Amino acid sequence: MFTISVPASSANIGPGFDSAGVAVSRYLTLQVTKADNWQFSHTTSVIPSVRNYKDHFIYKVANQVAGWHACTLSPAHVTMESDIPLARGLGSSASAIVAGIELANQLCSLELTEREKLDYAVKIEGHPDNVAACLIGGFVVTVKMGEEASFKKLPAIDTDLVVYIPNFELKTEDARKVLPDNLIMKDAATASGVSNLMISALLTGDYELAGKMMESDLFHESYRAKLIPNYFEIRSNARSLGAYGTVISGAGPTMISFVPNGKGKEIAMKMKQLLPDYEVEALELDENGLQVKVNINN
Ligand code: HSE
Repeated sequence: MFTISVPASSANIGPGFDSAGVAVSRYLTLQVTKADNWQFSHTTSVIPSVRNYKDHFIYKVANQVAGWHACTLSPAHVTMESDIPLARGLGSSASAIVAGIELANQLCSLELTEREKLDYAVKIEGHPDNVAACLIGGFVVTVKMGEEASFKKLPAIDTDLVVYIPNFELKTEDARKVLPDNLIMKDAATASGVSNLMISALLTGDYELAGKMMESDLFHESYRAKLIPNYFEIRSNARSLGAYGTVISGAGPTMISFVPNGKGKEIAMKMKQLLPDYEVEALELDENGLQVKVNINN
């Protein structure tokens, strides 16, 4: 019937803690066909198989959204493929939530707007930085005040990305436990200034300055660094190879570098030699976000 594709995302870009996210070129894809009974098939080992479709996370999300519209989902066979690793800071749950919302949107013909999809995604995920990036694509700045999330996508950022994915998981709740409950006013003002300057440097194409601000975060990086082996080595080696800035991706343990356009593959290759146990890969910013292709033979 249709195909849904959702990119991975990297949240907490430097000082953009709980706020700035980018969509990156790894994908969760659902191929959906009409069927008599529900079935989820996984073509990649990244996602654990689920015996009962009712326990499948994407089904649960879709069913919840359908319920909000008093719709019953018609059964489908969903073939799921993903190269977004779980619990590594690349927004796998956000991509699954956005995919589940779109599944309900298509099966129930809800004609949801982007705003409605975002509101539902934030309601389910709890924070907007990953879901906004993978829904909309590109570099997205968000803020959640009370129950309401606001967002703005930046004009296209002209950099490549390099990700360093270690072979262990780090749960977001564990990475949140190491953060302080309060910041003193003077530090909060500096932290917010660093974040403001990162955004204005990105907007004006001053990637050197943007990278410097990415690495000057005062909100979360220094507290979480101790949870991430090789944190300082990855930052300094990437910098000496020409990266603008390297930050924790989401709540970690993956790290991500913003590097000059056209340099991603070369820097990834050299960094891989220093990090043989990591998956090191050049990625691009995905500017498209959620994509749906409806099969014209329906
Ligand atoms: N902003 C979130 C956090 C992103 O750091 O906890 C990870 O899901």
